[in-house]
Amino acid sequence: MQEYLQSNIKDIIQQFPGVGDLLEEHKIACVSCGVGTCLLQDIMEIHNLSQDQDQELMTHLSRILYPDREIEIPRIERKRKSTAWQYSPPIKKLVKEHSLIKRLLKLVPRLIDELAIHPKDAYPLVVGAIEFIRSFADRFHHAKEEDVLFKYFDGNAAIFQVMHQDHEKARSHVRALQRALQEKKDRTMGDHLEAYRDLLVEHIKKEDEVLYPWIDRNLNISQVGELFAQFAAIDREFGGIPRSQEAFIQELEKVFSK
Ligand SMILES: [Fe+2]
Ligand SMILES: [Fe+2]
Repeated sequence: MQEYLQSNIKDIIQQFPGVGDLLEEHKIACVSCGVGTCLLQDIMEIHNLSQDQDQELMTHLSRILYPDREIEIPRIERKRKSTAWQYSPPIKKLVKEHSLIKRLLKLVPRLIDELAIHPKDAYPLVVGAIEFIRSFADRFHHAKEEDVLFKYFDGNAAIFQVMHQDHEKARSHVRALQRALQEKKDRTMGDHLEAYRDLLVEHIKKEDEVLYPWIDRNLNISQVGELFAQFAAIDREFGGIPRSQEAFIQELEKVFSK
């Protein structure tokens, strides 16, 4: 079993497709992950399964990897185990920022409908949404992650590559959305808004449920304090921008509540 624990998950899935299905059943999306350079052992650590889930998954895995014999299930040592996670103060800040981004994502289907029915009324709202995404979601929030948080870890690790890829894909959808707005291509605008929404819903879920809890398990107390101070400095640097962007979301919610 040890040899597989040290193997790349994509190679294992290619050799044993049943492993991919098994991970999907445990809501671990290695099959659809665009990077897939995690080792099997990393996956158990990153997803922080409970002791019972851990044992169950390992037992099923061993049956797929060694169908003709029973093997002893190895114990995987964890750095720090937490079943119910509670975010550290700096990570809480990021989760709070996600909740504002999620409020926009929730309104995207309404914005797409408005584009189809009353495009002229929808254009200023799309302009506002692009401004929100660029200034709050990207410059303020994603930059906090990329320029500060991720730098505490090995940027080549698969989990960070996935996050960077998502941020880049999000930026390219916003560029395409801006182009489509200039050319008044309503359908294309709708397509990119929808793609952005789908991407960010999944991205935020991965961060809130997998990446951030893993980060919290791997930061020591002094790093947590340092991180909090750096985030507070970024908050000061951005001044009233987050508040004005929140006001835009409130405005949008009001428009679509009618
Ligand atoms: Fe992110
Ligand atoms: Fe994020």
